[in-house]
Amino acid sequence: MAYELKSARFLAREVLEKALAPGDAAIDATMGNGHDTLFLCESVGPEGRVYAFDLQPAAVQRTEERLREAGVWGRAKLFCLGHEHMREQVPEPVRAVVFNLGWLPGGDHSVTTRWETTHEALLAALDLLLPGGVLVVCAYPGHPEGDRERLELTAFLSGLSNRVYNVLHQRFLNASPGAPECFTVQKL
Ligand SMILES: C[S@@+](CC[C@H](N)C(=O)[O-])C[C@H]1O[C@@H](n2cnc3c(N)ncnc32)[C@H](O)[C@@H]1O
Repeated sequence: MAYELKSARFLAREVLEKALAPGDAAIDATMGNGHDTLFLCESVGPEGRVYAFDLQPAAVQRTEERLREAGVWGRAKLFCLGHEHMREQVPEPVRAVVFNLGWLPGGDHSVTTRWETTHEALLAALDLLLPGGVLVVCAYPGHPEGDRERLELTAFLSGLSNRVYNVLHQRFLNASPGAPECFTVQKL
């Protein structure tokens, strides 16, 4: 099969791929193991800039290693800091922001994203988005905090004005309960 519609992360990547062009600026709000940061660095090219956040030093270290190995280290600025501080740290408007909620795969499950700080970061991210820019969020409702986050996220995004934003929510109807879901926002 040449094209396989397979996961929330895949849906998010498709949007990011279409929205980003060489020279753009982008934000990874949840660096984790650095897969999304690397994807953003590759998408914005040598002239682009990527700002990435995570609370955990291990995430920042893994991401730095990944970017150095891929030869794109110069394109990124990594912050060992909660994404709720994004507004003070990102000095320019951006074309795309990605949130991959939950905990660090292979890490401490008690360090998970929480709605209160996710909400604060989303408000900053929406302000930082350029017109035409996109925000993508992968949510993981398969655990209690993830479920609460998905419910709050749905309510928050549903309330955004359709004169300013287009908002899309995608989930696989025949997936197991708790499967990841993808939310996409475009600023008009
Ligand atoms: C599912 S992982 C991200 C995966 C990552 N995008 C990747 O490509 O490997 C979620 C990450 O969010 C981080 N996190 C939790 N609370 C955060 C916060 N307030 N600000 C920034 N990152 C946070 C966790 O430490 C964890 O590494």
